[in-house]
Order: sequence, then C-alpha cells, then structure tokens
Amino acid sequence: MEIEIVPINESELKSKEVLKQPDSLGFGNYFTNRMFVVKWNEGKGWHDAKIKKYEDFQMDPATLVLHYGQEIFEGLKAFRSKNGEILLFRPKENIKRMNRSAERMSMPQMDEKDMLDAIIKLVELEKDWVPKEKGASLYIRPTMIATEIGLGVRPSSEYLFYLILSPSGPYFKEGFKPISLLATDKYVRAVPGGVGEAKTGGNYAASLKAKKLAKDYGCKEVLWLDAYNKKFIEEVGAMNIAFVINDVVTTPRLDGSILHGITRKSVLQLSKKLGLKVSEREISIHEIFEGAQNGIVTECFGLGTAASIAPVKEIKYLHYTDKGEQLKSVKFGDEPGEIAKLLYGELQAIQYGEKEPPFEDWIVKI
Ligand code: PLP
Ligand code: COI
Repeated sequence: MEIEIVPINESELKSKEVLKQPDSLGFGNYFTNRMFVVKWNEGKGWHDAKIKKYEDFQMDPATLVLHYGQEIFEGLKAFRSKNGEILLFRPKENIKRMNRSAERMSMPQMDEKDMLDAIIKLVELEKDWVPKEKGASLYIRPTMIATEIGLGVRPSSEYLFYLILSPSGPYFKEGFKPISLLATDKYVRAVPGGVGEAKTGGNYAASLKAKKLAKDYGCKEVLWLDAYNKKFIEEVGAMNIAFVINDVVTTPRLDGSILHGITRKSVLQLSKKLGLKVSEREISIHEIFEGAQNGIVTECFGLGTAASIAPVKEIKYLHYTDKGEQLKSVKFGDEPGEIAKLLYGELQAIQYGEKEPPFEDWIVKI
C-alpha cells in the first residue's frame, strides 16, 4: 500500500511536555500529532492511504456508524527499551484479530502486511512520543468505521480505517495494585453466536450499565458470567481473567463469547515456559468462592493490553433470587500474588526489551 505522508506545519505541533510527568498521563488522554487514514469502497478497495495531521473528522449526521454501530477497533502498544529502541508487542496478533472482527461485523479485511506497515510507519514518525518510563507506553488504537450515508440497515459500502496513538500510563490508576470485581447475574456481556469475540464498540456501550452497578458496589469492573447458566466466568470489562487453582494457572476456555485476548494467550505460553501448569476450562463462580475459602484458589488476575496484568483482591457476587438480592464476597489478599508478580515481571521484561522474547514474532522492532 502506497502511503502519502502529508507534511504538517511545525507551528502546529503539540508540545510533548506531558511526557515529562508520566504519572499523570493516565490512559488515552493525550494524542500525538499524526494519524494514519485509509478509505475503502466497493469499487476501489483500500485507497488514499495517508499519514497526516491528527484532526477532527467531518461527518454527515446520517453516516451509518453513528446509527448502527458498525465499528471495530484494536489496542496494542509500543514500548521504549532502555537503549532507546521502539518495540511493538505481538502486533501481528492484533492485526489478525482486527480482520476476524471485520469478518464478523461484515466489514472489509486488510492485507496483514499493509496494516503492519501502516502501524510501523506511523509509530516511526511519532517515536518521540513513546514514553521512557516503565509502566508507560504508546498505546496504538486501530479503528474502522462505516462511512456510507443512509439510514437503511445494511453493511456500509464505504469505510474509513485509521490509526491514532496515545502516550499512556496504566489503564487502572492503581497500577499493579489489586482491584475488586463484581460478578452478577443481572446483566450479561455476550452470547454464543453474538459479537462477544469481536472487538466492536457496541460490546463496550452495552457494558456501561453493569460497570455502574459494579461502581455502586465499590468495585472497579464487572466479572462477566456466561449468558445461559449465569454461572461460568467469562472475562472482565477490558481484560480476560485467570485464577491460580491448585497451583495451576487456570483461565476460562474460549467459548465463542469471550474475546481472544493476546495477553491471555501470551501469559499461557509464558507460564508453560516458566514451568507452571496451565488449564483452559469452564470455571464456575461457585468453584471460585468455595475454592478460595478452602485455600485452593489462591490468586486472581486480569489480563489485557491496556491493563497488562491486574491483580484482583476481591470478588463480590451479587445474585438475584426469589428472596431478593444476595451479596457475597471472597478475598484474595491486598497484595499481588506470587504468580501474578512473576508473570507481570516476565511480561514487562520482554515488552521493555530487558529479556529476549521467548517466541518468534513477539517483538517487532521499529
Ligand atoms: N477482553 C476484553 C473485553 C477486552 O476489551 C480486552 C482488551 O483488549 C481483553 C479481553 C484483553 O485482550 P488483549 O490482551 O488482546 O488486549
Ligand atoms: C485494550 O486492552 O487494548 C483494550 O482495548 C481495552 C480498552 C477497551 C480500554
């Protein structure tokens, strides 16, 4: 794919002052000077690829994405190593998942090499925005939206794919400090055959009411249960989930409604490499409550690109019965567990270039 680089005026460049205070970056609050854009339509396929100034879009109020939510996105990170190299973590996995999301949402796929090339070129131009401090990184957000104008429900005949970059700190302001989660049978995230495996905006819009409920109960995020039985653990708002059960790193099996997380996949591979046992299977909320009380379930942690590894200190379970609302809680301790610490340390060391990647293609150097 030919990419036109549109020059931007020196006088319009944003200040990088924010990078001097990495602790106050937060997640997704600042954006770099440039973005990548490319259009698609039925006749031409992908065309007009550009890297240009980061700026507003103009949209007709009847643009399809604004009405029916035909939108997908990804999230990956560029890290700066101690010697200044810029490292992308498993970008090819995100590209593949973007194409799978596109397929599910009736949107066009993009050549994997072209997408990687666009990511590399944009990050290369914006490399000064990659924070230096451990814990901070340049978050890359590939996005695709339906841009045809009209109100009929149909796959759009036109799309815009874009990449934006956000120097970010940890997703949770707590950093690597344990958070609490709320499991409930009141709301569900996804059903088999639905769009839970796709990274599409509607999944997140639909989760907000449950997230508010979690907040009301003093929890950070929702721990989703399966839609049929309302008992098997699926994942968290923006992360997959794992438990240490009988010393085995155990995570819900990908059942058709869980996002295929890249951090989850990496941590399973890494755990095996470190000699830990791993298991992917059904895990019921009841097993966790009983197991934690009996000392069999010793740790719980979330897994995601934005959040990295997020230890969990407590799960509350809000359950609705004929007799009304019941609330139970189980605790894992106020400090991160040993296995969460080990995996977090290993993952960070690889991402920040302190350790050789244990598998081919984990790190793409820019
Ligand atoms: N599950 C959901 C719902 C997510 O939004 C994310 C974040 O991307 C994840 C899981 C973790 O996926 P990954 O590790 O690929 O970021
Ligand atoms: C990520 O981890 O990259 C995500 O996409 C989470 C996001 C919804 C904040």
